[in-house]
This record gives sequence, structure tokens and C-alpha cells, in this order.
Amino acid sequence: MTRKSLFSALVKASVRASVAALALSCAFGVGSAGAQENIPLDRAPDNGENLASLQHGAQLFVNYCLNCHSANLMRYSRLQDLGIPQKQIEDNLLFTTDKVGNTMSIAMRPDDAKSWFGVAPPDLSVEARAKGRDWLYTYLRSFYRDDTRPTGWNNLVFENVSMPHVLWQLQGIRTVKFEDTTDEETGEKVRRFAGFQQVVPGKLSPADYDADVADLVAYLGWMAEPEQKTRRQLGVWVLLFLGVLSFFAWRLNAAYWKDIK
Ligand code: HEC
Repeated sequence: MTRKSLFSALVKASVRASVAALALSCAFGVGSAGAQENIPLDRAPDNGENLASLQHGAQLFVNYCLNCHSANLMRYSRLQDLGIPQKQIEDNLLFTTDKVGNTMSIAMRPDDAKSWFGVAPPDLSVEARAKGRDWLYTYLRSFYRDDTRPTGWNNLVFENVSMPHVLWQLQGIRTVKFEDTTDEETGEKVRRFAGFQQVVPGKLSPADYDADVADLVAYLGWMAEPEQKTRRQLGVWVLLFLGVLSFFAWRLNAAYWKDIK
């Protein structure tokens, strides 16, 4: 075998290996992402730059999520970046024992949580990066009543979740309809989602509930990456700088070689 053909064989083999690895990781990715992969995710509105949304989201998070979930990478004082004054954080968002410089930790011990829920509620500091904003937006709007579950609730995108629907007073109570059909390709029997039914109305209209969840998700997104805005702005300056630098390097190179040619 010549050197050249050895080289091309190697390249082909490594391309094939990486394609296989990619396909494999995709397959696993999809497999673990949801027990219900036939449920399409709704697109979360992009409120990440809207301070009023982020403030409202922070408030919802502290009121509804922080009793079970911590956000150990997040300090309360950081909320000042969202334009919430320190006084207001102390008065409205802090539990009595917390100081404004503390992280968003919780009093519940992981062991207790585990025995109550079966699973300890995970820390939500970087949840938006782990699961994606669309998944969170869909998840928080997909709880339904299910009396076979210990909590009385189930979720369309997180089957048999052990988290109760903590926002039920806002959304009201809904049940879900499934229909049994046969998959046209495989011929297998599948259970298909056929819509929610509102049983008890919530305090909010469906549109207002969606807007609240959008704010909450925007906050979760911000919390996962508070520097995102700075990073994007900085990126533009770095690219501009590199552009200018390349121009000078190019001119300098031309000047050096001018007499040698
Ligand atoms: C009563 C306690 C409780 C409250 C309050 C609560 N959760 Fe949960 N949450 C849980 C438990 C328990 C789980 C673990 C579910 C499981 O793995 O089955 C969970 C899981 C989650 C998950 C999925 C995590 C993952 O990656 O598997 C998300 C996202 C989440 N909660 C968001 C929230 C948000 C947002 C709020 C506030 C609106 C909230 N939770 C309020 C108990 C709670």
C-alpha cells in the first residue's frame, strides 16, 4: 500500500468512526431526553433580555420553587443585576434567615427530600442549560391530574415525575386525553396524546399562565448563564479586534516581502 492510499484509508476509517459515534450519541440523546418523544416541545418565548420578565421570573422562582429546589450557584445579591434594589430583595425575596450575600440554598435535607419524594429535587442553577428552555417551558405547562401517582400529578414530557404541580393554583386542574392508535410504520399499538381538558379553572387565564411560565423560564435561563449578555457583547468586540489585527498583519506581511520578490 502506498503512503497516500494508507493515509486516505486512515482518513476514511476515522470519518466512519466519528459518524458512527455521532449517530450513537444522537440515538442515546433522544432515548434519554424523554420517555414521550412523540410530544413536540413548545418554543419558549425569548424574554431573556426583558428586565421586567426576569424580575417577575425571579419572584416566581423564589415563591414557588425554592422551597424544594436550591440554586446553589446563585447569590441573592446577584438579583441586583436584574435591577431589583437590595432593599426589595431583602424585604420580598429573602426568607428570614437568609442574608443578601447568601446563595439560594434550601433548608430541606437531601435525605428527607428523598424519602418524601423518592428523588431529591435537583439543584436548578444550570437546569436551563441541561434541559433547554423549550423543554422547561413545555414541562411546566404539561402537568395533569393522575390519581394513580403518589402526588396526584403526572407530566406529559416527564412521565411519572415525582414533582407535584406546584403552580396548579395558577393553571387550574387539567386532565389529559390519550387515544390508542397503531403506528403506520411499525404496526405497533401506541398511545397518543389527544389534548388536555380543563377540569377546574386556574387563577390565571391560559394565556396569562403561559406568560408567567415564560418569565420563569427566562429567569432560569438567566440564572444558568448570568453573563450571557456580556459574553455576546464582548464577542463582537473580540471579533472586531481580530479583524483589525488581521488587516495590519496582512499589510505588515506585504511590506516585509515587498523588496524580496
Ligand atoms: C414540593 C417540592 C417541589 C417544588 C416546590 C418544586 N419542585 Fe421541581 N422537582 C421536585 C422533585 C421531587 C423533582 C424530581 C422529579 C423526578 O425526578 O421524578 C423535581 C424535578 C424538577 C425538574 C426536572 C429536573 C430534571 O432535570 O430531572 C425541573 C425542571 C423542576 N423540578 C423545576 C421546578 C420549578 C421551575 C419549580 C417552581 C415552579 C419547582 N420545580 C418546584 C420537587 C419540587
